[in-house]
Amino acid sequence: MAERGFTPTQLAARAAYLLRGNDLGTMTSAAPKLYPHMWSWDAAFVAVGLAPLSVERAVVELDTLLSAQWKNGMIPHIVFANGVDGYFPGPTRWDTRSLAVHAPAEVHTSGITQPPVHAIAVQRILDHSRRHGRTTRAVAEEFLNRRWADLVRWHRWLATARDLDGNGRIALFHGWESGMDNSPRWDGAYANVLAGAVPPYSREDLVVVSDTSQRPTNGEYDRYLWLLEEMKQVRYDDTELGTAMSFAVEDVFVSAVFSMACQVLAEIGEEHSRPRSDVRELYDWAQKFRDGVISTTDERTGAAKDFDLRSGRWIGTETLAMFAPLLCGGLSRDAERNLVRTFEGPKFCGHPDLRYALPPSTSPISRDFRPREYWRGPVWPVMSWLFSWAFARRGWAERSHVLKTEGLRQASDGSFAEYYEPFTGEPLGSMQQSWTAAAVLDWLG
Ligand code: SER
Repeated sequence: MAERGFTPTQLAARAAYLLRGNDLGTMTSAAPKLYPHMWSWDAAFVAVGLAPLSVERAVVELDTLLSAQWKNGMIPHIVFANGVDGYFPGPTRWDTRSLAVHAPAEVHTSGITQPPVHAIAVQRILDHSRRHGRTTRAVAEEFLNRRWADLVRWHRWLATARDLDGNGRIALFHGWESGMDNSPRWDGAYANVLAGAVPPYSREDLVVVSDTSQRPTNGEYDRYLWLLEEMKQVRYDDTELGTAMSFAVEDVFVSAVFSMACQVLAEIGEEHSRPRSDVRELYDWAQKFRDGVISTTDERTGAAKDFDLRSGRWIGTETLAMFAPLLCGGLSRDAERNLVRTFEGPKFCGHPDLRYALPPSTSPISRDFRPREYWRGPVWPVMSWLFSWAFARRGWAERSHVLKTEGLRQASDGSFAEYYEPFTGEPLGSMQQSWTAAAVLDWLG
């Protein structure tokens, strides 16, 4: 079928215009209506997209995020924009400033975290700065010097406070921490969350996305909100969450992202003469969490699994999580070949009915698959970008190129949607999502 749509030049211009439009000054809202604040992993991807436009502005984005870092090292999943309403749960519901000893005093944040993709943004900023003159290079290097210790603190917090069993896998206490809120990965764990008395609330997301079938259900939201109450009861204290929370999982995808991010940050540190002990620690974490990911995999298929800490059961799903080892490496050659075949084959990118050869969040042949419902099936452009970036890093140029080409074909409708229906290519969720524009800008950069 002939593609109608924008040319690459038009698309890049529109993506840049979108990021400018979503720019609140020192932060970029994740999406103008649905997500009117700064989200942690969105901000990192946004910085990746800003870097080719302005290294200086990309640095500001990460600076804003890091200024909201908690004293224990956690980067919170939301940094609230001053005076902006329209999102629930907002600062009052989280109440971190009065409850959590580690929360920053100057800014309102949520009390949970999100996947640690930030080192990728730092690397892209440094890469782009090299294409410029001395002044821009100095901005990037000064940023690295100024924020290096914060970035290492962030990684150290994940490697310690969140590796509960010391097995090289990151524990999460809320599905939102995975970034894949309602993925079938978490259905079993959420089934055991018995929502108690959740203070009354009304959902703002359904005001923006009126087709409720594209968003998590009310039953899911009750549990999401109940987990906040559980965290508040222990004042967001790291040492208590491990026992207090009725939702606790080891996320293999986040663990793989973390391993990869440690590797990237260690390489940056080595190149920029950061303290040798930091660099050594980062390389050690990269290895430990790679081992942690590989220890969950099936020897033959290479597929990775999450683990439910509450039921003591492995969670094997046909979702993006099974491909975690393709991000961080470490599988045997045969297992890796099999896992790549699954990724490219009829269960995922090679499904014959797909509009574009991109990985759906849940396999279309899984019984959990719902083509329009958030993380239960739709294609998320930012995930296509992450895999294409990781594949390039792993030396798989051709595979990376296919994802990029297909991702750009999908994006050529110019809607910059949050996610897309895999068979029809219909844009879903929020439109003008910042990280979708960022992915396009990096691909075209
Ligand atoms: N993704 C969540 C939401 O939909 C929050 O992180 O609000």
